[in-house]
Amino acid sequence: MKVAVITGAARGIGRATALRLAKEGCAVVLGDILSEQVKETAKLVEEHGGKALALSVDVRDENQVKVMFERAVSEFGGVDILVNNAGVVWRSHIIDTSSEDFDFVVGVNLKGAFLCIKHAAPIMRERGGGVIVNISSLHAFSTLPNLAVYAASKAGLVGLTRAAALDLGAWNIRVVAICPAAVDTPMLRDKPTEEENLAAVNRWRKASPIGLLLEPEDVANLVAWLVSDEARGLTGIAIVLDAGVSADLQVRKIPV
Ligand SMILES: NC(=O)c1ccc[n+]([C@@H]2O[C@H](COP(=O)([O-])OP(=O)(O)OC[C@H]3O[C@@H](n4cnc5c(N)ncnc54)[C@H](O)[C@@H]3O)[C@@H](O)[C@H]2O)c1
Repeated sequence: MKVAVITGAARGIGRATALRLAKEGCAVVLGDILSEQVKETAKLVEEHGGKALALSVDVRDENQVKVMFERAVSEFGGVDILVNNAGVVWRSHIIDTSSEDFDFVVGVNLKGAFLCIKHAAPIMRERGGGVIVNISSLHAFSTLPNLAVYAASKAGLVGLTRAAALDLGAWNIRVVAICPAAVDTPMLRDKPTEEENLAAVNRWRKASPIGLLLEPEDVANLVAWLVSDEARGLTGIAIVLDAGVSADLQVRKIPV
């Protein structure tokens, strides 16, 4: 049985990925700061006949990350798959963004992934290889106003993906990134009013030539394929999953 560690698995994309990889037959180790909600994800996995271990983990803390991987080994015997999904969004104008804000966002979105890769890779090596999927964002490539730190952290994650693919290739570990456009999760619906949430949802749906707002399962499906042997030729690459949003220059208000 393959073992998958998924961070940020309490809800949204992380929860959908946990359920999907469990359906593929993986035992799943779920780390999140939302300790009650991550237990709920584990319960859902078990209700579907899967094996899950829920852990309270802040990915910014190296010791907590180390313990998460030690628990994966002691409970399930090793690690084959890592999904670096834990993330936070941060909206502020660049000049209103404090040094502490920067450290917080980069700490979760970039350092967290770095720490997980660092502690997962030697364990994967013991198993003869593995696959690491980093959940970056379309904001790594093109972004919107007031998202400087978020965009920087996600672009950094793409760089980390390439570098880790080079360092870990000799151990038969593939490293890939997924860069989704808006996905319908609590992160997208975090505006102060329901009206603003609905407006955001409709804007993104309209921006897609196929009128699609991505669901967490769309990301989970791609993760499931990327970690399979069918994707053995992919490493060191970032895949844009955006329902066609970035194909349309009009979306970027470029005059025709
Ligand atoms: N929703 C979108 O529109 C969208 C688009 C592109 C990329 N993403 C990325 O996808 C990933 C998942 O986002 P989501 O949309 O499911 O959001 P979400 O807010 O629903 O889930 C994020 C999860 O990460 C957890 N988390 C936050 N800080 C953590 C920390 N320090 N340690 C451990 N866990 C932590 C949260 O508790 C939460 O459960 C994020 O990395 C996000 O940046 C989301």
